[in-house]
Amino acid sequence: MRIEPAAAIVGHVAVPGDKSISHRAVLLGALCEEETRVRGFGRSGDTRATVAAVRSLGVEVEDLSEDELVVHGVGLRGLRAGTVDCGNAGTLMRLLAGLVAGQEGEFVLTGDASLSARPMERVAEPLRRMGARVETTEGCAPLTVTGSAGLLGITYELPVASAQVKSAVLLAGLNANGATTVVERTPTRNHTELMLEAAGVSVRRGPSSVTVEPAGAVRLPEVVVPGDFSSAAPLLVAAAIVPGSDVTVHDLGVNPRRTGLLDVLERMGARVSVFDRRRAGGEAVASVQVLPGELVATRVSAAEVPALVDVLPLVALRATHARGETVVSGAGELRVKESDRIEAVTDGLRALGARIHSREDGWTVTGVPARLRGGRLEARGDHRIAMLGAIAGLASIQGVEVGGADTAAISFPGFFELLEAVVQRS
Ligand code: S3P
Repeated sequence: MRIEPAAAIVGHVAVPGDKSISHRAVLLGALCEEETRVRGFGRSGDTRATVAAVRSLGVEVEDLSEDELVVHGVGLRGLRAGTVDCGNAGTLMRLLAGLVAGQEGEFVLTGDASLSARPMERVAEPLRRMGARVETTEGCAPLTVTGSAGLLGITYELPVASAQVKSAVLLAGLNANGATTVVERTPTRNHTELMLEAAGVSVRRGPSSVTVEPAGAVRLPEVVVPGDFSSAAPLLVAAAIVPGSDVTVHDLGVNPRRTGLLDVLERMGARVSVFDRRRAGGEAVASVQVLPGELVATRVSAAEVPALVDVLPLVALRATHARGETVVSGAGELRVKESDRIEAVTDGLRALGARIHSREDGWTVTGVPARLRGGRLEARGDHRIAMLGAIAGLASIQGVEVGGADTAAISFPGFFELLEAVVQRS
């Protein structure tokens, strides 16, 4: 896929439903007593894997339309044991491990080559402490979970800032004896907690911990999924870089644990407005407008990382256009995402003319207030890197050829079409 330079990016758009919330709606819906209607479902490669996963565990899912479905839950302990293919979806594999830990039977969770190289001990370890038998394959998938009806609630301090691990433990806690507490030093996304509350589970949220009580039954009649901030991010960053741009994304999820990018964009000189704020099922929703401004370098460190972890590659791109040296640190988790994103971004942007160096836990970028040259960037089977390449193309002089661009469909199938709809070429 070749992306030509843009004169400006202008328009009002909406993006597909949030991937994190879509996964959770289907997974929690599967445990409900009655049906769960999901509106605004973000259908993508990853969330299709989640629908297929719960179907293979005996849950009926009715597709009403592209973005609406009904999950016919089988109750807290009603899943049928078996083998589940999680595809490329780390969120699915880790949350599902927690979901099945309290169900009797042997569940084998497999994934594609990328997912099978990602660390799974991080979920296995706390689930074992709760009483499940969990075997990994040298720390990775395939994962075999032998569930137990006698799980015990635990207090678990997260060794890595991970919403996926937190969620796995909390979901296992629904079927445990006694309360389950997860302590996190750096707050990560809280969609699971918010959805559990909406489903009638007793949840106590503290500044750095969350506790769930075992649930007799859960009911979640409806989930309205807001637009995915991580999918909007490429457009917002493009608008922040290309002079003359003006992009507004409507109906966007603006949960503060996801929107760290807006603070970083403002610090780097963009003009950001958030308006039309409202709530949908416990989640904050709004419209977000971004206009470019004088680009300046910044620093991003560990405390900020969870709130923008998926969009850090775009921060690196932004930094290549900003006057001065930008340092991103405390982001070592990027090495174990769908690709080693630290190296994928360093190699990718350097090939386009950027001055970027990898660090163990991030990058140092020396920016210049001028367009990147352009060239070819490889997605390495990673949807976020494919979208990064496209935005780099818009902001470049010669355009960018994105190798393996179709992997964008893992999270955002209509990405390139939406981009073309807002790009102006003089
Ligand atoms: C996710 C949490 C994050 C994020 C991933 C989705 C989630 O991963 O990178 O894309 O839905 O909980 P970690 O929790 O492992 O950091």
